[in-house]
Amino acid sequence: MGATEPQWVLMATGRSPTNIAVIKYWGKRDEALILPVNDSISVTLDPDHLSATTTVAASPAFPSDRMWLNGKEISLSGGRFQSCLREIRKRARDVDNEKKGIKIKKEDWEKLHVHIASYNNFPTAAGLASSAAGLACLVFTLGKLMNVNEDYGELSSICRQGSGSACRSIYGGFVKWCMGKNDDGSDSMAVQLVNESHWDDLVIIIAVVSSKQKETSSTGGMRDTVETSPLLQYRAQTVVPSRILKMEDAIKNRDFESFARLTCADSNQFHAVCLDTSPPIFYMNDTSHRIISLVEKWNHSEGTPQVAYTFDAGPNAVLIARNRKTATLLLQRLLYTFPPQENDLDSYMLGDKSILSDAGLQSIADVEALPAPPEMKAPNQKFKGDVSYFICSRPGAGPKVLTDEGHALIDSATGLAK
Ligand code: DP6
Repeated sequence: MGATEPQWVLMATGRSPTNIAVIKYWGKRDEALILPVNDSISVTLDPDHLSATTTVAASPAFPSDRMWLNGKEISLSGGRFQSCLREIRKRARDVDNEKKGIKIKKEDWEKLHVHIASYNNFPTAAGLASSAAGLACLVFTLGKLMNVNEDYGELSSICRQGSGSACRSIYGGFVKWCMGKNDDGSDSMAVQLVNESHWDDLVIIIAVVSSKQKETSSTGGMRDTVETSPLLQYRAQTVVPSRILKMEDAIKNRDFESFARLTCADSNQFHAVCLDTSPPIFYMNDTSHRIISLVEKWNHSEGTPQVAYTFDAGPNAVLIARNRKTATLLLQRLLYTFPPQENDLDSYMLGDKSILSDAGLQSIADVEALPAPPEMKAPNQKFKGDVSYFICSRPGAGPKVLTDEGHALIDSATGLAK
């Protein structure tokens, strides 16, 4: 920092969860404002397992806005980052930090530049909605730094302008993104349906599926769908509105059977709409299909759904089990079919690893000794290496401020990413 400049750096650090849609958002009616063609509903995942942490810093010594993602500097010039920065700056208020002796006037924020450092606690390459957690965290943490007083609905509509699905990451529990009617997007925002303790029996197991294929981005994929798929109109206008009402009831009543049927049907229809796009988009692969059929067979043999599956714009499976006991039975089935490639169970299960011992799986020998699930017709079929690893999680809380300076990703002396 220049010797003549005031020597202060003001920072804030926040953590935001990722979310997984159980009624999918796919298709925009306005590309620039990111306004969707239908409502969507998601569950927020426990930030201990899947979240973004972001530190934002402001200093008169910064000549420009800069950002680092997982330690690497990235460009902030994209329109979406710019929209979020602009909308938050517009709402900035006076800051009077007595402890540090820093006073910032509302109007000073227009001239002050920010440094942003963000980090995901899960592999970005895994294709697990890292942008939802990242953008929500950026907006939430900038809001704290700039003393923004807006309610969460307003913040969610700013997140939305960074990435559609990010607007649902501003709350914990189950969240609905209301598409809104207004052309300016002012009523397109997320609301919390229930918080994370409402349905805390649920266990979420994610299978990160090995894939070499470069996937079509959500943004590009949904643009092609809007332009070419006749099925999308029917989905957005007829199917989703009635599913949203049923899903809200299922969540309110903790009705797992309805919840699971709706979740699976909506994931399958989203992928059907992708196939109905010209040229067709394939997000799921053979492993994804194998997981669907494993779950479908098991659910069918039990007579009532034990597990729901849902897939986003990639081959990874998100499996939602009705409770911990069911999750252990699911895990036994998954590990029977997809044993780890390496002889190391510990690195094959991330997140809540205690699910392994609950399922009686302490070692590779335990996995090898698993009996074939009774409902399986071809019990010898195993697919070692087709799943990279699993993550065990649960419904979780929304964004929060991390007050312990040890969590900061920016060095307060240099103002640069650590
Ligand atoms: C399949 O939010 O990534 O995950 O708004 O263009 O940034 P943009 O798209 P994005 O799309 C997510 C699509 C989805 C379904 C969902 O999360 O609802």
